[in-house]
Amino acid sequence: MTSKRRPGSTPRQRRRDRLIAQAEAALARLAVAPRDHVALGSLEEAAAGLDGLVDGGEGDTELRERLVDAPRRTHLAWPPGPALPIRTDRLVLRQREPADTADLHAIYSREDVAEYLLAPPLELDEVEEMLAERATAQADGFGLVLEREGRVVGEVALMFRGPTQSELSWVVHPDHGGRGLVTEAVRELIGLGFGHFALHRIYAELDARNTASARLCERLGMRKEAHRLADYWSKGEWTDTLQYAVLASEWS
Ligand SMILES: CC(C)(COP(=O)(O)OP(=O)(O)OC[C@H]1O[C@@H](n2cnc3c(N)ncnc32)[C@H](O)[C@@H]1OP(=O)(O)O)[C@@H](O)C(=O)NCCC(=O)NCCS
Repeated sequence: MTSKRRPGSTPRQRRRDRLIAQAEAALARLAVAPRDHVALGSLEEAAAGLDGLVDGGEGDTELRERLVDAPRRTHLAWPPGPALPIRTDRLVLRQREPADTADLHAIYSREDVAEYLLAPPLELDEVEEMLAERATAQADGFGLVLEREGRVVGEVALMFRGPTQSELSWVVHPDHGGRGLVTEAVRELIGLGFGHFALHRIYAELDARNTASARLCERLGMRKEAHRLADYWSKGEWTDTLQYAVLASEWS
């Protein structure tokens, strides 16, 4: 194998040259196909690598803007969400509103809901704080509340994990569980993930004791990819984690 090497170049310069070429090639491909998964993966890797290598030398300001910052604002950020609300057979899926706080508190304050969530049952002011934090972090994901007969009965979300991957989350008030409402909402959400957001892979991570979530993943047709033993410290103990996933090419 031959490699083109600048005379007297350092390993750092050669790595930088390689990443510049990689980013430029990915951008050229994205100019033709803006959600090309291969180009997005390649661009994400190149921008992350260049982030630490473009550090104030001659021409670096232009290079950083062209190959790191501008791509992150455009290609590597999620597109704006779809038009809402969305109606499914039994639900209205819409954005959360401040008036939903009481309904959400009725969900997140329960011991049985919090059992396998990261946080303990929440007080009203903690729910308000959580909603305020999420409102300022909208670029981190896309969430929908499940409205049924005028009340919010649950929430589902796609959390941003890079330009082409996303992690699912879900919760339902136990009074409305066991009827397939979450399945109905998440099916719609995965459809948006692969359709509107043109994602490549969607996954869920859950406490292995959370059998209702595992059944939900299987009902949705997600593949079990891993059972990690004692990998996560949660509420005073090491817990196992299950990972389920589905690729765009597998979803119908
Ligand atoms: C995980 C959680 C969302 C699952 O809720 P759920 O009510 O089981 O999910 P669905 O609304 O999709 O209902 C599915 C159940 O209804 C039944 N069902 C009844 N009618 C149905 C229908 N029309 N379509 C599909 N399922 C139906 C299913 O058989 C299933 O029951 P089963 O699991 O006992 O077989 C819920 O337990 C929860 O909120 N837990 C607390 C929060 C949490 O742990 N979140 C996940 C963190 S990873």
